[in-house]
Formats: sequence, C-alpha cells, structure tokens
Amino acid sequence: MKLWGGRFAKDTSRLVEEFTASIPFDQRLYRYDIAGSIAHCRMLAKQQILSSEEAETICAGLHEILGEIEGGRLQFCLDLEDIHLTIEARLQEKIGDLAGKLHTARSRNDQIALDLCLYLREAIADSVERLIGLQKAILDLAKKHCDVILPGYTHLQRAQPVLLPHHLLAYFEMFQRDIARLQDCYQRTDVLPLGSGALAGVPYPIDRESLAQELHFASISRNSIDAVSDRDFVIEYLAAASLSMMHLSRLAEDLILWSSSEFGFIELDDAYCTGSSIMPQKKNPDVAELVRAKTSRLYGHLVAMLVVLKALPLSYNRDLQEDKEALFDTVDTLLSCLAIFSPLLQTMKIRATRMRTAAEADFSLATDIADYLVRQGLPFRQAHEVVGKMVSWCLANGRTFADMTIEDYRRFSPLFAEDVYQITVETAVAARDCPGGTAPRRVGEAIEADEERLNQNAAWLQKVKQDIILPLIFRPHQT
Ligand code: ARG
Repeated sequence: MKLWGGRFAKDTSRLVEEFTASIPFDQRLYRYDIAGSIAHCRMLAKQQILSSEEAETICAGLHEILGEIEGGRLQFCLDLEDIHLTIEARLQEKIGDLAGKLHTARSRNDQIALDLCLYLREAIADSVERLIGLQKAILDLAKKHCDVILPGYTHLQRAQPVLLPHHLLAYFEMFQRDIARLQDCYQRTDVLPLGSGALAGVPYPIDRESLAQELHFASISRNSIDAVSDRDFVIEYLAAASLSMMHLSRLAEDLILWSSSEFGFIELDDAYCTGSSIMPQKKNPDVAELVRAKTSRLYGHLVAMLVVLKALPLSYNRDLQEDKEALFDTVDTLLSCLAIFSPLLQTMKIRATRMRTAAEADFSLATDIADYLVRQGLPFRQAHEVVGKMVSWCLANGRTFADMTIEDYRRFSPLFAEDVYQITVETAVAARDCPGGTAPRRVGEAIEADEERLNQNAAWLQKVKQDIILPLIFRPHQT
C-alpha cells in the first residue's frame, strides 16, 4: 500500500512507478532529508504538536536509518517513489504508526525544497573551495614565472608581448567573478522553505524561526506559494557553474594550443596526458579536451531548467522533479573538472625560451614603434601608416625590424633615430604601466592584491562551512 494510497482503488501500474520514481537519483539527498526531518520533529515537540517521547522515538529511528543508509544496508526500491517516502516507510517498519506523525505540518513540496537548499549550500561551498584551489595554482604559476614574456594574441594572431603572469592572472579574474556569483547564489539558498506545507502554509502553531536556527538558515521564506515552486536558486547555480566551465574551457583551449608542436609553449606532465593506440609518438591533452567538451553538458542542463520553469503554473508541479539530475550532474561535472585542473597546471612545464622567441617574431613590436613616432610628435594614425608600410616592405624583402638599418628606417620616416633599436619585448611590456596593464610593476601589484583576495575567499568559505555542516544529524539523538 502506498503512503498516499487512501483514495486509490487500484494499484499503480508498474510502468507509472518506473516513470515517476525519483529514488534512483534523489537517494543522494538522504542526509539533508534526515536532517530536515529531525529538525522538523524537534520543532513539533517544542511546539507541543508531538509529545517529547514521540519525538525522541522518531528521531532515534531517523538516526538509525541514517546509519543504515551510510552502511549500505537500506535497499532503495522504485515503488517507494522518492527519498522522502523511502525514509518514512522505513521509519514505519521500525517504530510503527507513530512514524506517520512525522509528516504533520509538512508536505513533500516544502520538504524537497528544503533538501535542495541544504544540498546546494554544500555544493556551493565545495565549488568555491575548488575554485580557490585553482586560483592558488594560477597564482603560484604566476609567481614562479614572473618575468616570462610571451606573445599576447588577438584573433589568434600575435599582437603584443605580455608577461606570462599577466595572461595567467586573467583567469584568476574570471574565477574570482565565478566565486562572487556563487556567493551571491548562496544567499538565495540560505532561506528556509520548510513550513510552507503543500503550498498554503500549515494549520499548526509551528515555529519556523527556530527551524531556521536549528538548520542554520539566515532567514525564512516569506510566501509559501513561492517557496514550494521556486527553483531560481537551482538555475542560478547552473548559470554560475556554466560560466565557470566556460572559463575553464577557455583555459583548456589555451593549454591545448600551447602544448601543440606549433606553439610549443608548455609541456603537460605525462601523468596528465594520454596516448594513442595507433600512433606511438602521441601524447594528447585529453583532460583539457574533455573539460572543453563537458562545458556543453552544463549549458544543456541550464537551458533545460530554464525551459522546465518557463510558464510553469504556480505552485508545485511534478515538472520540478526534473531539476535533480540536471543539478547533480552539473555539480559532479564542475567539481571533477576543477579538481583535475589544479594539478594539470601545477605539473606542466613552461618553455620560456619558446615563448620569448615567439614574442619577438612577427612584428609584435609594431605598435611600440608607432608609439615611438608618436613620442616624436607624429599623430598616431600617421605613425600607424608608416609602420604598416615598414611591415609590408619587410615581408616583401625577407627582413625584420631588427635587421633593418637606420637608413632603411629613415626612408620611412625622418623621425627615426638610433634609439629605435632600444625597443625590445622588455621595453614593450614595461611601457604598459597603466592600471591593469602588463608592466612588471603592475603585475607585481596584482599578485599581491590577488593573495589578499584569496585570503578573503578562504575566510568566506570558512564562515559558510560552519553553517552547512549539519550538526543535527551528527549529534546524539535527543530532542
Ligand atoms: N520527488 C519529488 C520531487 O522531486 C518530491 C516532491 C513530490 N511532491 C509531490 N506532491 N508529488 O520534486
């Protein structure tokens, strides 16, 4: 007999059971579900809706069930539909009809919303923790190779020389924004939905504030209809995670290009590459390639959830069950990609000479030579024209700026003097000394500032971790 079977004259079709069940994937919410139930039960006792003996028996049973699930001793089966009914049915087997009192003043609609908030608070903390790890790896690399120069690119064409740490710290910025987005999303998961009932609230004298305190929520939801139907916080996480993966995919693409023989800027460690079953010489950047590809999965999940919620009538609809696989796969994918990327960066070899040679080739100093003419008084647009003609002449005559004689230079502009030879990749980099520029002084300042930002990120994480550990379910069972 189903826990909701009272009004049904027939058994559910097996097909329907299989089609509607969420237990195959929502079983991973068991810890949050049990924590929520224990808090709910204690609150019911405090409000004298249940007696304290009843609440003690229920909580003790829930603790036992927690142990059974952790020990792999509880069989999950489809006919119990979801994690909520599975746990309640098991409680019934243990303590009999008293189990039925746990669901007083509660619905699965506010229960699942609570479970998701609890789950997501932890997932956000885990995501931030790994993003911090990645930022550390980036910062370490930047410090270790602080004076390496490589070509900066636009349109994937060599553009102007930049410091390697400057290029790397661009990713630090991206991951910093990702962390800020997750921190923002955390605030939306920090609102307790429990106590909203099915949709309209509950006709019992419950104390939602004390529930929020027990479960470490900053506040309680203000509208019961919204609370059971809202999945904004899931979509916000999916969006934040998608952006993070997009950033990771760009970093992955850099590493893929840089590790090719054509670039030869880095060598990935053997431990983080794979080989070819036919070409013995191959060492492939598969990890980076998979990260690049997995990004698309997250976009799919994000769009799927936006569409599930689009025009969905208030309030709870079973459509909302479709949030879980999308969310879980997003969390798993993001965490695994972040986890593997830090050691990938930490172990790769930087080939500084190759980078420098590339930075010196292909007229990367053209802008600096134009700027030289500007300093002699020529308007930038004309200086640009002069240097453009020089490039074209060099290409036609197989020359570079470095092997042009001063007479060659002067044929293009009388403003050139011997000191034009003093322009190098170093002076080009050092000249870009504006805030946010690639000059060593600015990059040095950025490294210092980023250390401080890392500390702030770690402090935030420390603080929320205290809220997300679920003290209830690890405490001995008394009410
Ligand atoms: N498995 C459901 C979900 O994931 C739990 C809530 C079910 N509520 C209901 N009224 N059928 O959303």
